Amino acid sequence: MHDFQYKGDELYCEDVSVKKIAKEVGTPFYLYSYNTLKNHFRAFDSAFAGIPHLVCFAVKSNSNIALLKIFAEEGGGFDIVSGGELYRALLAGADPQKIVYAGVGKTREEIRYALKSNILMFNVESTQELFAIDEVAGEIGVKARVALRVNPDIDAKTHPYISTGLKTHKFGMSTKDALEGYRIARSLENIEVTGIHKHIGSQITQISPFMDALERIVALIDILKNENLNVRYLNIGGGLGITYKDESPPYPKELAAELSPVLKGIHCTIIFEPGRVIVGNAGILVTRVLYTKRSEGKTFLIVDAGMNDLVRPSFYGSYHSILPVDKNSNSHKIVADVVGPICESGDFLAKDRVLPELKKESLAAIMSAGAYGFTMSSNYNSRPRVPEILVRDKEFYIIRKRESYEDLVRGEEIPLF
Ligand code: LLP
Repeated sequence: MHDFQYKGDELYCEDVSVKKIAKEVGTPFYLYSYNTLKNHFRAFDSAFAGIPHLVCFAVKSNSNIALLKIFAEEGGGFDIVSGGELYRALLAGADPQKIVYAGVGKTREEIRYALKSNILMFNVESTQELFAIDEVAGEIGVKARVALRVNPDIDAKTHPYISTGLKTHKFGMSTKDALEGYRIARSLENIEVTGIHKHIGSQITQISPFMDALERIVALIDILKNENLNVRYLNIGGGLGITYKDESPPYPKELAAELSPVLKGIHCTIIFEPGRVIVGNAGILVTRVLYTKRSEGKTFLIVDAGMNDLVRPSFYGSYHSILPVDKNSNSHKIVADVVGPICESGDFLAKDRVLPELKKESLAAIMSAGAYGFTMSSNYNSRPRVPEILVRDKEFYIIRKRESYEDLVRGEEIPLF
């Protein structure tokens, strides 16, 4: 459920008219609902209330500090993948002891920053990384808590670009290498073996890949126990999917019902890293139709948001539902490509989509854009990035300003030669 609903013919976010926001901030813009964000976080967190756990929101899905603050206030932690995400999480008031750090390419500077910030643990993806963390920890004179990321070789049954748990993927270590990795980790002076981690992919719409991967990890935990390597934390990653079109992914409580009996038997604190399931349907991208154009039997709606603002359709062929902000002007249906102003044929938000007729100047809402929307946006074609707006009840707040042309060239210099 989310708080983007029609009141009469007009689309609202909670108690604020989307049209009213567009009038004040211009288009395009990302729009998030505070109540949806909070409710989604709570739904996930409470689903696992029966077991000791920590929900670490995946910052890569949406990293605006105003949103991170909401999750921190709800008692959430954060899954980060860079020094920049660590900076954001700390700025938002995160408890460093609730931050876990994944990613195959952590630099020594990033490792140092994370150690100095006293994060809960690193999710280590290779033995070379393990040695690097040991060295940096030694230089600073601290012990680094680590989990090894295990690649369970499970097909997440999702888009190949966002599937991460097969042995052909760059992520984690095979169970065999992880076992060896744990033995090495135990021998390193500045490392404390704390946990075990897996994440098999994103937009997963079935329970079975989660369950299969969990069973493989549990088997490894048993082997580790026999070697007196006791992990205190089991991090099962993120990946739970949402409904963009007609998918029917399990609700968090359904996933919890299946996984909990196994999780309870492990006697670890369970870490989750959800991103999309919390923010995906809590955000939309609002855009305006600039022109309509018919050619060779095709209709194009040319809107002011492009692939630089929301790259998912171009990149993954993703479906995002498109709704008129004002139903009034829309009587009959058309079939159209919704395209942006970028100079690439791959710049589209929808192809051959059946839509209510959207005339020049009308507003459209690109739904389910809260996850991997703004965070994947760019300045391509020298387009300033769009603002982000947060609605809470009757008020809206600009939580990121629209970029200016000055912002576009910040840091650039023309050499004096
Ligand atoms: N944990 C780790 C280690 C991850 O790599 C990810 C996502 C997550 C958690 C959160 O996964 P979620 O719950 O959001 O599925 N840009 C793509 C998605 C890439 C996901 C990358 N990793 C998209 O727009 O679909």
